[in-house]
Amino acid sequence: MSVGPLEKMPREETLRLRKTYVGESCTLFFEQDPLKIVRGEGQYMFDECGRRYLDCINNVAHVGHSNPRVTRACAEQMSLLCTNSRYLHDNIVIYAQKLLATFPPKLNVCYFVNSGSEANDLALRLARAHTGHEDVIVLDGAYHGNLSTSTDMSPMKFEKITGGKKDYVHVAALPCSYRGEYTSDEYDSDVIGEKYAENVQNVINKAHSKGRQIAAFYAESMVSCGGQVVLPKGYLSKVYNYVRQAGGICVADEVQTGFGRVGKHMWAFELQGEDVCPDIVTIGKPMGNGHPVSAVITTKEIARSFKDLGVSYFNTYGGNPVSMAIANSVLDIIEDEDLLSKAEKTGNKLLDDLHELKKRHSIIGDIRGAGLFVGIDLVKDRITKAPATEEAAYTIARMKQERILLSAEGKYSNVLKFKPPMVFNEENVKTLVDKLDEVLTEVEEKTDSYESTSEPSSDTSSSSDDDMASASSS
Ligand SMILES: Cc1ncc(COP(=O)(O)O)c(C=O)c1O
Repeated sequence: MSVGPLEKMPREETLRLRKTYVGESCTLFFEQDPLKIVRGEGQYMFDECGRRYLDCINNVAHVGHSNPRVTRACAEQMSLLCTNSRYLHDNIVIYAQKLLATFPPKLNVCYFVNSGSEANDLALRLARAHTGHEDVIVLDGAYHGNLSTSTDMSPMKFEKITGGKKDYVHVAALPCSYRGEYTSDEYDSDVIGEKYAENVQNVINKAHSKGRQIAAFYAESMVSCGGQVVLPKGYLSKVYNYVRQAGGICVADEVQTGFGRVGKHMWAFELQGEDVCPDIVTIGKPMGNGHPVSAVITTKEIARSFKDLGVSYFNTYGGNPVSMAIANSVLDIIEDEDLLSKAEKTGNKLLDDLHELKKRHSIIGDIRGAGLFVGIDLVKDRITKAPATEEAAYTIARMKQERILLSAEGKYSNVLKFKPPMVFNEENVKTLVDKLDEVLTEVEEKTDSYESTSEPSSDTSSSSDDDMASASSS
């Protein structure tokens, strides 16, 4: 396949122009040695020299990079019409109906927007309109987007800005069963859920004591940027009760976790039980397989409160016929190719193989996830759980040399994340786990703080290997 004229530029020139013309805070993956990617196909990406990389992190290219059905849907509609949603068009209503059929009946209204950030911003407007309250509760380490409001609601970002925490934002504990105040070392899974839910109640009480009122509780149904954290059993059910008792509404951010990624269910909040139903769900990323389309799903009552504000909602691109044609094709592919069952099967194989790997590598502290949403928490020591941040960076850089693309998440950037396109298969799992086995052996050999056995290491010394420190990749 030939590459377009822009991609014929030497990589160094692309990098130079990027540094010259693109805002400095727009960071690159693999900062030390950025990749120039010119083509994608299925679960693979190709650089300008035609080298193929196995993509383990792109949760946007849900049904596979450059999926021909998506491309066709886009091209066919674009050649006919692309205009705003103030004209009647079949694509928007067909998609809305199909999409809503995947949610519990109470969630029966959509708003179409262009990014996850915009969806979370609109969700806040809806919550405020419905409750008459202003404040939000978010989880520690969370990321909900790049707008002013969604940055305000993202501890992962605002904590790095002096004075970044706004008065209307309250931060609850990240309900992690591995790290944090309540862990599975000490408590049963149900108790962990209860304890972390009580933390949210305490946050509500504290807000009330300052005269503040909660409009919304935002949480991802599995926490991505916070470190691939699986919510403990019973957590959302209890939290949602507390928030509703306080007159707030519950927002599930499914921007990363939605559209069947968790395998068993279309939406990750469903993992928390049949009694759990948010009042608003925000979705994005995989929805358009790379095309910018996202949505807010809510109830008729909340939509009515928003309308009662007396202003119409207009969004130039949200819900346009091209975006809707693309989103329709993605839903069809998920169904036709049975991608939920595949994610469950491949994800289970990945989890099983990683648990085997854990027996050989004491750097692996925890493995968690569901479907094709999996994290490996790397530790310097299994007892102290000291995060192996430099080792994670080194692992990612080495895996890239082996042409496998990985990345890290969590407060300490020590959690290797796997969120590949849903077409990732069992052969890909084998390639990934075999290479990871080799690279982790190398990491452990580089430092004397690991024992290559299943026994926890008691050595708490931290690695300061220069190679590792300089291999930082993301
Ligand atoms: C959980 C979550 N919510 C919202 C967003 C924002 O989405 P977007 O980048 O499409 O604005 C992201 C992006 O990474 C995300 O991970």
